[in-house]
Amino acid sequence: MARIADMDIDIDISFVESLDDSPAGAVGVAVRPGLEWPAAAASLIQSLGPGFAAALEREKFTGKPGSAVSYDTGRDAPHTVVALGLGSDPGPEQYRRAAGMLGRRSRRAASAALAADEGGRTRELAEGFLLSQYSFTAYQSEPEPAVTETLFLVGEAGEAEEAAVETARINAEAVMFARDLVNTPARDKSPEEVARLAREMAGPLGLRVVEHDREDLERGGFGGVLGVAAGSGRPPRLLEIWHEPEGAEAFAVLAGKGITFDSGGLSLKPASGMETMKTDMSGAAAVLGAMQIIARRGIGTKVLGLIPLTDNMPGPLATKPGDVLTTRNGKTIEVLNTDAEGRLVLADALALGVEHNPDVIVDIATLTGACMVALGLGIAGAMGTSDELVRRIMELGAPLGERFWHLPLPEDYRKQVESPIADMKNIGGKWAGALTAGLILSEFAGDVPWAHLDIAGPRTSEEEHYRSQGATGFGALTLAALAEDLAERGASFSRTL
Ligand code: BES
Ligand code: MN
Ligand code: ZN
Repeated sequence: MARIADMDIDIDISFVESLDDSPAGAVGVAVRPGLEWPAAAASLIQSLGPGFAAALEREKFTGKPGSAVSYDTGRDAPHTVVALGLGSDPGPEQYRRAAGMLGRRSRRAASAALAADEGGRTRELAEGFLLSQYSFTAYQSEPEPAVTETLFLVGEAGEAEEAAVETARINAEAVMFARDLVNTPARDKSPEEVARLAREMAGPLGLRVVEHDREDLERGGFGGVLGVAAGSGRPPRLLEIWHEPEGAEAFAVLAGKGITFDSGGLSLKPASGMETMKTDMSGAAAVLGAMQIIARRGIGTKVLGLIPLTDNMPGPLATKPGDVLTTRNGKTIEVLNTDAEGRLVLADALALGVEHNPDVIVDIATLTGACMVALGLGIAGAMGTSDELVRRIMELGAPLGERFWHLPLPEDYRKQVESPIADMKNIGGKWAGALTAGLILSEFAGDVPWAHLDIAGPRTSEEEHYRSQGATGFGALTLAALAEDLAERGASFSRTL
């Protein structure tokens, strides 16, 4: 059984007028180049004397974004002052990162305080700090207990600030839930177990869960999921998670790739390629995290989360290269490489999704190494049949620290996935692997404006701020923001493909 943290983060956040009013052991001061310290920090910094300035100079701290210097004051409180660089034109993400860097450096302090150079960033500061306190300790016999219990934010406490903290908490808790799912070893997250965890999360929030087992999938013609599951001893699942608010005008389907372990199947990966393949359900985790936020915040869009769950294993009954699968919408796929399995399970999920006639359908998946080659670890690929929808997702993601970049779906590349014996094959040759994967998926999106998000790169991090080593929970915030945006701005998107 998986060991997943429960939903409440035990960190108290309150407001103080000045750093002088906080008893915090660790204090963060966020500043731009020019080092004009926020007024609330002035007397603290003055009291540190020339030693502080000398330390900053030694470390060449100039306020660049992403830079931080910790200074040991020699006192009891604060024992540490952390200068946090914002850059000259900081956006929301800079504040989230600054708070995250303070959080990573203050984990041994029982309380921390943070002053920034301007108000209005409470959400980001709280979110960054809360997420920085995440660590995956479920499998350590002596986990480090270091988590800061209290955060003091310098600023006026008002209704807007309290609401911002509450939103930050909901967001951070959902992202941590997604991170826990992804970080959990594959042994402990069978499709059945992920389904159980999804129900456990969703039930109390009023989400309706429908769980399809293998027999349902056989009756329903889900040849993609069944074909991938054929080589595994653990049975597959397909989850429907429904958020059905009264009076909803917009309707979105979110589909997340839930490969609970990707060995490659008979087209077996090399050992090194398998090391992180417990994370191949990061798309599923993002959808589950988004559904949690959508439910807790009472977002007014109808949302269906669709999550195909299966291992990809080379067992005795495994799908063989050359086999042909018939998917939910009747289209056939010749499987030439069993390691290109994500598109097979998503084909079924997308086909089922469009049967419900949503306004938009979005899938999210750790789909291709090629997308990582193109965009690296920090940026996800975004493709689709509506440039407007893809652009909307990029705009919503950026201030949430989830960067997407629009990649094309060139019609003339479609011939790369033509099969001599079936409607298509599941691989597209050496070049443009992220795009040919997208082109295959496009065959299953029907006429619904559709976006495909390839999060293979940013599913994990090697950084050290509000994200730390391991799973990031990437995508949950953007998907929830999209649902919210559809309720506010409508859901009509023109198609371009
Ligand atoms: N899950 C992998 C993609 C992946 C690789 C995600 C590395 C994260 C890190 C996917 O199922 C896969 O194996 N894709 C193949 C496709 C190829 C066989 C056409 C790939 O990218 O190599
Ligand atoms: Mn694979
Ligand atoms: Zn995979």
